Amino acid sequence: MLRKTIFAAAGSLAIAAGGLLVSDNLVQPAQADGHGAQVAAVKERQEAMKAVGGNMKIIAEFVKDSKGTAAEASAAATKIGEIATAIPDVFKVEATLEEMDKVGKNRSKANIWSDWDGFLARGKVLEEEAAKLSAVLNSGDAGAIQAQFANFGKEGCGGCHKTYRGPKVDG
Ligand code: HEC
Repeated sequence: MLRKTIFAAAGSLAIAAGGLLVSDNLVQPAQADGHGAQVAAVKERQEAMKAVGGNMKIIAEFVKDSKGTAAEASAAATKIGEIATAIPDVFKVEATLEEMDKVGKNRSKANIWSDWDGFLARGKVLEEEAAKLSAVLNSGDAGAIQAQFANFGKEGCGGCHKTYRGPKVDG
């Protein structure tokens, strides 16, 4: 699927058009099994999260191993902030456990939809923390970069995962 390729190959491009790409996928007609929209939605959000993870790796390598440049790491943080703005869209289709099992390795918990506002608030935190991280990465202040990188992982990612993401699934 085109979107999948774009997300994988160049997170930045997909994100620039993220809102549109995301919503057109969600309204695709259900497939023969009747769960097409849910299965597509689960794949969509996993792709979005993978793009977040890929950008996080660029930042972590810069902060921990001085790989790449500050500008590249800062741009990766900006991309995560952009993906964060698509979180309401990519998660809006609720999928039952049975439906999500068809996709495999699903880790979204049901409380995402029973506590939708709380979930969206975590997306907002990610957006704000990403903006702060992007700015500080360009500051050249190593101490401030380390501190915000730690905060970003804890609040930006962990703050959502610990409540709304289930345990790792084998297979
Ligand atoms: C608003 C909530 C939220 C935030 C913020 C968030 N995540 Fe996630 N993330 C999830 C959920 C829910 C899943 C499980 C998705 C699924 O399997 O349906 C997930 C899954 C993932 C995955 C696995 C994707 C896959 O299927 O292979 C990675 C990697 C990931 N997140 C990285 C990150 C990183 C890095 C950050 C911070 C920069 C972050 N996430 C921030 C909710 C969030």
